[in-house]
Amino acid sequence: MSTATRVSSTANAKDLRARIEARRAKVGIVGMGYVGLPLALLFSEREFPVTGFDIDANKVNALNSGKSYIYRIPETEIATAREKNFNATADYSHAVDMDAIIICVPTPLDEYREPDLSYIQATAKAIAPHLRAGQLIVLESTTYPGTTEEVLIPILEGGNNAGLTAARESSDSGNVFFVAFSPEREDPGNDTVARRDIPKVVGGLNSASSELAGALYHSIFNRIVPVSSPAAAEMTKLLENIYRCINIALVNELKMLSLRMGINIWEVIDAAATKPFGFHPFYPGPGLGGHCIPVDPFYLSWKAKEFDFQAKFIELAGEINTYMPYHVVNSVASALNTSKKALNGSKILVLGLAYKKDIDDLRESPSLTIIEELQRRGANVFYNDPYFPTVGRGRKYNLHMTCTPLENLGQYDCVLIVTDHSDYDYQRIVRESQLVVDTRNATRGIQSETIVHC
Ligand SMILES: NC(=O)c1ccc[n+]([C@@H]2O[C@H](COP(=O)([O-])OP(=O)(O)OC[C@H]3O[C@@H](n4cnc5c(N)ncnc54)[C@H](O)[C@@H]3O)[C@@H](O)[C@H]2O)c1
Repeated sequence: MSTATRVSSTANAKDLRARIEARRAKVGIVGMGYVGLPLALLFSEREFPVTGFDIDANKVNALNSGKSYIYRIPETEIATAREKNFNATADYSHAVDMDAIIICVPTPLDEYREPDLSYIQATAKAIAPHLRAGQLIVLESTTYPGTTEEVLIPILEGGNNAGLTAARESSDSGNVFFVAFSPEREDPGNDTVARRDIPKVVGGLNSASSELAGALYHSIFNRIVPVSSPAAAEMTKLLENIYRCINIALVNELKMLSLRMGINIWEVIDAAATKPFGFHPFYPGPGLGGHCIPVDPFYLSWKAKEFDFQAKFIELAGEINTYMPYHVVNSVASALNTSKKALNGSKILVLGLAYKKDIDDLRESPSLTIIEELQRRGANVFYNDPYFPTVGRGRKYNLHMTCTPLENLGQYDCVLIVTDHSDYDYQRIVRESQLVVDTRNATRGIQSETIVHC
């Protein structure tokens, strides 16, 4: 190893570190969605020059006109960032100007429920020709352990003409870019923890990459948790989500048993949660939703097969959670049956489309499966959700419905609470409805024979 090249690589890292500390480092965020946009705004708030990259022209135009397309991000925040030179672009040639690029693109499952890394691959291919020595590339998208090293880095290394390689511990060259993985840990709709108080896990490909990514994130997060590798950071995120997925499946199973035994599972969970150690409460519901919990665990069970390993807990939890929307529809049918009514031909109002309360996100929402299944079984279905005036077509649904006002509730054979939005007046809903099927215990404390828990 020549002293000249060694100094050069170290100098690159030192230079970037100085730019980060002085808040002069130009930060590019790829993917202006639920994760990328708030992150861009956090960096901008801390005076970093930020550029948002997105292939969606509508988002780019909206941001450059100071508009927001995410309910909980007010336009004033975009306007403030714009005043600090935040801008959005679809043009990757600007990537060369960035000091750090953070990738926050989707990682869904494909039609065979296998990891779909096409967004990460497309992003890496788009960035690669514009890479320059000394840049820091961080992947935030949730994915299986090995993605950063096996998928991202080979595309970045193979696609740049300057012969740049990712900085490794054994690396001799100063002709390098730095790479790390750092998972996003946002909890949409949860305002109890400030974003900057959520510790940030960082795993770099080598120690310089870890330190640089740690320094960058430390500008906006209070605590950095370094781990030994990108794979360890990737696995950390999956452990967190699999822990949730499995515990939710457990309480969903216990809920179905409790219903049969005439026990109120929510009362039981509240009682168990008084234990000051060794128990963390999880709550049953109509099924999993969101971009993460229904999807991420299967990234690991898929990868496990490469190692002749069957991730049985994950598969079992998936089976139970996937069944829940069908359990809800069966419960509605049984509840109607008690009044000598059939599901076929009944008028049903579904309350809540979002996958959880008080948010405007319906990705993988159980409501969508429930509505489709109710329709398939002959019900006449309406919905109300203050966050969705209409619902059209998505990757897995095709509904084309318009939000029904929350009026004249007595006309419905059943009002089905799928999402327990805080704005709903549950007293009134119960008072005015013939039958309320409650999947969330939203009607807790209300006494009425018209309420059926499921
Ligand atoms: N939403 C959450 O609460 C959450 C929480 C933790 C982790 N994550 C993870 O973060 C990642 C991003 O999730 P999200 O919710 O922000 O997704 P999103 O769909 O809201 O946003 C992704 C954005 O990436 C853009 N995009 C896609 N391909 C692109 C490309 N080649 N170049 C530039 N932009 C591109 C899309 O147009 C979109 O605007 C996923 O891996 C997800 O699992 C999400």
